Amino acid sequence: MTPSVHRPGKREAARAALALGAALGLALPLAALAASRDADAPSAPPSFTRDVAPVIQQKCAGCHRIGGVAPFPLESARAISSRAGMIASAVQARLMPPWPPGPRSPAFDGEAERTLTARERATILAWAKAGGRVDGPALEPRPQEPVDVREGESMLELAMPSAYRPRAAKGVTDDYRCFVLDAKLSGDVSVTSARIRPGASKVVHHVILFRISAAQVAEAARLDAASSGPGWTCFGGTGIGVGGSGGSVQAALNDSNWIAGWAPGSSGGRLPEGNGVPLPAGSRIVMQVHYNLLNGKAPDRSRAVLTVAPASAGLARVQTVLLPAPVELACGKGEKGPLCNRTEALFDLSRKYGSTAAFVPAGLLLLCGRSASSVSPSPVSRCDRRIDTPTKILGVAGHMHLLGASIRLELNPGTPRSRVLLDIPRWDFHWQSSYTFVDAVQTKPGDVVRVTCRHDVSRRAHGMHGVPKKPRYILWGEGTTDEMCLGLLQVTRG
Ligand code: HEC
Repeated sequence: MTPSVHRPGKREAARAALALGAALGLALPLAALAASRDADAPSAPPSFTRDVAPVIQQKCAGCHRIGGVAPFPLESARAISSRAGMIASAVQARLMPPWPPGPRSPAFDGEAERTLTARERATILAWAKAGGRVDGPALEPRPQEPVDVREGESMLELAMPSAYRPRAAKGVTDDYRCFVLDAKLSGDVSVTSARIRPGASKVVHHVILFRISAAQVAEAARLDAASSGPGWTCFGGTGIGVGGSGGSVQAALNDSNWIAGWAPGSSGGRLPEGNGVPLPAGSRIVMQVHYNLLNGKAPDRSRAVLTVAPASAGLARVQTVLLPAPVELACGKGEKGPLCNRTEALFDLSRKYGSTAAFVPAGLLLLCGRSASSVSPSPVSRCDRRIDTPTKILGVAGHMHLLGASIRLELNPGTPRSRVLLDIPRWDFHWQSSYTFVDAVQTKPGDVVRVTCRHDVSRRAHGMHGVPKKPRYILWGEGTTDEMCLGLLQVTRG
């Protein structure tokens, strides 16, 4: 202890601040500030230019840029400083940057580039608390990362056939649209990475790429022709039946047509070395784009940028396993209406999507070991699937619609070998993506994978944006008024 230099104590500083503040009519805020700052605290407030701007640039400006998906840019020093308070509250509440997997999830590829470290979070908060001042310029915007094309691979850039101007019914702020992309493949290839170059990045919110077989191309063309303008309206999936694949339900579930999910700011979803999603000659890609009309209706012509390897590269074949669970959601408290009756809701499904749609709820109950004749509705849905061949899980995704509240995927639940594969504690339909593990998970025959979803019908009563308000008993279905509970696993076998 070397108390040689006199420094004003905390109390003295507070008193001085109070006196000064009283003179300025600012007593309370200044006193609070003085009291919260320990005279012995080692660090000065963070520097904007040195500490804050590089973090914002790396972890926020990818979306928060002029023309980007976020509602305002965070590129100039002024723009960042003028929103210091708002930035602090979004960062404090962990709303930004958006990263849906919660702390129970395993480590995913790209997570470190997207999420804030504890230190970065503390730095932003301390800077904002100290007034959010600028002490130099923000850095130059980062150039776009080039596509990583590896040896033996080529890049496939597939644009939408023509520009599409997003539109939606009155009062609806989202448009979900499917477009066919033709890679004009002369031979079979495997997709090793997929990213989206949005045409109008302000309105392109998220994108899912599906594969359709040569046998399904005609059905896609019919849907496209029946809708004016390029593409057709689709929501949960492509709207194309699984019929064309010719296999059993089990086969379709074990090897579905997912290629990749993409959300703004995601790096390109490269599969681990040596793996690829097969894209046979003659197949097509259906690109489902979610347009957020709150950001305008600019015409969009987005492109999917894939890296592909030829069949001769001998990559392990990545399949997407679908893990659906039944959805049986009764009307909420105080809600009434003819569609609150399950049978009426089933008839409504068949009116909207054809008679097979009305058999899906019963099929899911049976698939998940429940009775299809005595059904008890519940906000929680669950399904277990036993793995019957050695399976390596490379990545995961979850899918629900607008009433989804949380989703979890677990391996061997309730056993000593249980582990969480994905946990999204606050589901947001608008932030869907797929996640590749840093370390792939090897499973063996007899292991069980469980999907658990929680839905919240009160979101309908609260009139949350995009949720149709009409009360109904909700079952599994494709539309905005229907729900899903779906886990997805990207796997290789053997
Ligand atoms: C992946 C894209 C993306 C990234 C990365 C991102 N944001 Fe956002 N941000 C958005 C979008 C889109 C919105 C509009 C609200 C929504 O859709 O959730 C938003 C909204 C906000 C808001 C307003 C929140 C409110 O109360 O309405 C703030 C503040 C914000 N972002 C700050 C940040 C900061 C700070 C970072 C980096 C640490 C960041 N964002 C990273 C996309 C992003």
